[in-house]
Amino acid sequence: MPTIDPAALSLEQKARILTGRDHTTSHPVREADVPSIVLVDGPHGVRPPQTAADHLGINESLPATCFPPAVAVGSSWDPEVAAQVGEAVAREARTYGIDVVLGPGVNIKRSPLCGRNFEYYSEDPLLSGVLAGAHVRAMQSAGVGASLKHFAANNQENDRVHVSADVDERTLREIYFPAFERVVTDAKPATVMCSYNRINGVFAAENRWLLTEVLRDEWGFDGLVISDWGAVHDRVAALTAGMDLAMPMDWGVGEAAVLAAVGAGELDESVVDRSVRRILALAAKATGAEATSSGTTEDFDVDAHHALARQLAAECAVLLKNDGGTLPLAADARIAVIGAFATAPRYQGGGSSHINATRTDAALDAIRGLASSPDAVRFAQGFTLKCTDEALREEAVAAAREADVAVVFAGLAEADESEGYDRETIDLPAAQVEVIRAVAAEARRTVVVLSNGGVVSLEGWHDDVDAILEGWLLGQAGGGALADLLFGAANPSGRLAESIPFRLADNPSYLNFPGELGHVRYGEGVMVGYRHYTSIALPVRYPFGHGLSYTTFATDQLEATLTGDDTAEVAVTVTNTGTRAGKHVVQVYVATSAGPVRRPARELRAFTKVALEPGESRRVAFTLDRRAFAYYNVEQSGWAVAGGEYTIQIADNAVDVTAEAVLTLPGDAPETQPLTIESSLGEWLAHPVVGPELTARLSTAAPAPKDEEEAEENARLLRMAAPMPMSQFFLYAPLSDDDRNHLLTLADASAPS
Ligand code: BGC
Repeated sequence: MPTIDPAALSLEQKARILTGRDHTTSHPVREADVPSIVLVDGPHGVRPPQTAADHLGINESLPATCFPPAVAVGSSWDPEVAAQVGEAVAREARTYGIDVVLGPGVNIKRSPLCGRNFEYYSEDPLLSGVLAGAHVRAMQSAGVGASLKHFAANNQENDRVHVSADVDERTLREIYFPAFERVVTDAKPATVMCSYNRINGVFAAENRWLLTEVLRDEWGFDGLVISDWGAVHDRVAALTAGMDLAMPMDWGVGEAAVLAAVGAGELDESVVDRSVRRILALAAKATGAEATSSGTTEDFDVDAHHALARQLAAECAVLLKNDGGTLPLAADARIAVIGAFATAPRYQGGGSSHINATRTDAALDAIRGLASSPDAVRFAQGFTLKCTDEALREEAVAAAREADVAVVFAGLAEADESEGYDRETIDLPAAQVEVIRAVAAEARRTVVVLSNGGVVSLEGWHDDVDAILEGWLLGQAGGGALADLLFGAANPSGRLAESIPFRLADNPSYLNFPGELGHVRYGEGVMVGYRHYTSIALPVRYPFGHGLSYTTFATDQLEATLTGDDTAEVAVTVTNTGTRAGKHVVQVYVATSAGPVRRPARELRAFTKVALEPGESRRVAFTLDRRAFAYYNVEQSGWAVAGGEYTIQIADNAVDVTAEAVLTLPGDAPETQPLTIESSLGEWLAHPVVGPELTARLSTAAPAPKDEEEAEENARLLRMAAPMPMSQFFLYAPLSDDDRNHLLTLADASAPS
């Protein structure tokens, strides 16, 4: 349907559609044939309200498939997994007449404590951006708009609606923006959702720099900016900043404010028209009225989507440890399955992304289904989610004693992590640690399977057990996927998208999280996650990028070639050196100390997941663009590449480098700053024309040093004086008026025109 011109609407109609009609829809304008836009959460499944009247979304939503949430997809390191989630979610969204699915979220996991980490992909911006981009592209190709959220610096839940994220610009540009930038420029989401918080004191919803200068002017975003639900405090200020559609309804407050501001001449109607035009452009694509369904699950293939959810989940779990080939389990093994999570799976997070799943797989059932003799699988609950229960623990230990292997399903309860609040600890509940240790002391072999949305500590029990499978939250078919992985029907191929530290206090945000007195200072700067751990060589339990497989891989024959002044091609051969088919994630990092700013020890700049049969080799190639080598120069307000050495590292994870090659980049031509009398002596000495003349005049004016010692002392004095402004240096220097005038004239003449 053609886009309606704002001129076809009255000012009142325009002011009205700038704010939502209810919790999930925008205002239609029936007289002008403008339909309502239906916007519903996401992102790893849809949550359509039960009835049109349930505008607040208070009731359980209609059934939908709960695909693996972003914490799991992040660990797949596979854009194809993200794309399949996006496409399937779009199919269900179309069934329910949803125009925009609210997600994905690409906020960086700054602290493992963030209550919403289950909804975010990674501590690394490249990994987050590539996966979210694939999700958005696939979803939008299937005809449903995405809402990239929460823009920006929404890295905690405590005080999320007020807190000011105080972040320096280089850190925003290098860590917190790139995933948004990549998705906006590569995948063109229909909408971007601004966050609740302030950024350096200004609410995201009212932040013109963020929503207009960066998002639109620099990145070329031409879609609709919507607010997080209730994030708008001042409708007119938000509109002026570039925040188009305020969600949800606000009982007419925003509409009245806009009308009053236009009436008083404080708001130009063209600003109203600008946002109205964007809303009308999206409304022209709205298909809500043409939903293929009456709102039942009959119109998408529930079974096929459940099977897909199981297949995708198996790509996401991370095998952290597997001593002595404990896994995969033999089909005829006597297995003690222990832990409440084996029967009541924990598979998604709480809050606005909570899906009413069409069904759920319990791992215990799936294990019995794959075991050659289901009777050889015994279950013991082991613990309750509330407290230690000695009888349950003893029952579990007894079951473990009689089995070939004990598999303990541990994790966090839904209430432990949710939107709206952060965690206070990364410890596993003590009752579970007790059971794991008691079982491990008696069992022949012990495997721990984890279900958690944010990192949990493995300390206090890691060394007691033989294998650990980190399942994160795997969606509704996670139980089946875990059984597939335990028995080797699927080969683990997930890699950590976030580091697992030894101690919470090792995390770089520790002293600045979640902030105080309304401010959270991002004091660690760009040193987030593995960037910090590797830069100070601080050991972690498992590094970013780590993950085992039932087969083994080798990467060699690295070639790195410059293809321009600041671009390169990298190629490497990866071989499956084991006996099973499997997938390896080739990780390419760039390490450098070039330039005037402190760089992390290494940064992920490219990756790909490769499927290989036993013995098979494949050559994989990557293009590294200018950004792979650049840092954000705040003085120049732009990306800069410093001349110098850059080491290309192929690594199994952020710590274990398997091959490296050095490239020397010429870097950007240095910006010559004009010399003034207030420039420092150091700057004068470094100047290509004035520097040599100054040195020559100084050595003529002063007696030659008697010996090496005096020469060294002179050099030390010059170093000490280097920060001194020339105006001051001239007072002390043994230079004549003639020298001084000559040098000043030379400095003037060499200023860039
Ligand atoms: C969340 C968003 C969500 C919105 C609508 C907010 O509280 O932060 O992620 O899309 O609610 O439910």
